[in-house]
Amino acid sequence: MPSFDIDQIRADFPILSREIDGKPLTYLDNGATAQKPSCVIESMRKFYAEDNANIHRGIHYLSREATEAYENSRTQIKAALGLPDSHELIFVRGATEGINLVTHGLSDRLSEGDEVVLTIMEHHANFVPWQVIADRKNIKLHFVGLTKDGELDLEAWKAAFNSRTRVASFTHVSNVLGSINPVAEMTTFARERGVLTLVDGAQALPHGPVDLSEVGSDFYVFSGHKVFGPDGIGVLTGPRDLLNAFPPFQSGGDMIDRVQVSGTTFREVPERFEAGTPNISATLGLAEAFRYMAEIDWEEARAHEHSLAEKTAEELKSLGGIRIFGESPGKASIISFLYDVAHPQDVGTILDTEGIAIRVGHHCAQPLMDYYEVPATARASFAFYNNEADVEAFMRGMHKVQRFFG
Ligand SMILES: Cc1ncc(COP(=O)(O)O)c(C=O)c1O
Repeated sequence: MPSFDIDQIRADFPILSREIDGKPLTYLDNGATAQKPSCVIESMRKFYAEDNANIHRGIHYLSREATEAYENSRTQIKAALGLPDSHELIFVRGATEGINLVTHGLSDRLSEGDEVVLTIMEHHANFVPWQVIADRKNIKLHFVGLTKDGELDLEAWKAAFNSRTRVASFTHVSNVLGSINPVAEMTTFARERGVLTLVDGAQALPHGPVDLSEVGSDFYVFSGHKVFGPDGIGVLTGPRDLLNAFPPFQSGGDMIDRVQVSGTTFREVPERFEAGTPNISATLGLAEAFRYMAEIDWEEARAHEHSLAEKTAEELKSLGGIRIFGESPGKASIISFLYDVAHPQDVGTILDTEGIAIRVGHHCAQPLMDYYEVPATARASFAFYNNEADVEAFMRGMHKVQRFFG
């Protein structure tokens, strides 16, 4: 039975009761990485303490058990994502590796003059890999801009398509603005034009379940560490036929069919793209994170996150001299801002003295910073386990910034 009791939820995350220099931790850097519930930590401890073995190649009990647990994790996460039968789920290191796998796989299929539609709000992970193949293959990249509220300019995005467009790659949720892109509408538009889509879901899944059959993209990626799971693990999903037609991304053990001196044949997905020993413990930890998330009442959790973020934005504005980046109604609970009396670095440093963790800098979105003509912003990003006390502590910290610099 899904539930949402904030005190109970906070008790599930041991780090939230930590103190920093005698002050309670206020963790508002969830966009960078999320904290882990005890069950995720315990699942990884248990694997190493009781179950550790390598997968896929052993006939002994532990190896069979570990293989089963690893493959069950895949099945379980596929089901949680509503992955269509035509698609496969590949475990990768994270969103970055997933996107690189796709750009590597597609590069042979793209020729000079082909075009890829991106947006200016992309994280570097969905920017640089495209630039690398664009340089190598002489492909044109379109970077679509934003509305004044920091939403994607959907009309401009649609207008960027032409007969040479082969791929559209875009984030589900902006890690700076919190804007949620209308991914289903975008993938439908692209599909009707024979254009492949990649959706970067790194900032979407931390705010609730995503149904990939509704998203409708060809490829979807996300990172485990942002969805309350371990780091070093992530997911790429994509159409099985197309992935099987991609050249291997890495080669070696586990991904081969037959190796001979005269040459090697490769396995089909998912093994085709899981060369070598994978991050078994993290895969189990990620599956545990999904099990944990399935028990949360996300309607309530989302409403809770939104109300915290809205309250924070309102109280911030009441300081005066605050500029908030991204004012899209219904956006995810991410608040990027500038305070005209203090550089973001100073804001972050003063908040840190109060045990408050926020992020300052370009957030791996330098093209977006250039677009707004700012070098950096401060960013408070919320998760469902944040509470009113976090907002109060954050605002006390901001008043300290005001006293110091204002
Ligand atoms: C929108 C977005 N995409 C991709 C990434 C890259 O994720 P990772 O570093 O886990 O590969 C991030 C990380 O901040 C992100 O916010």
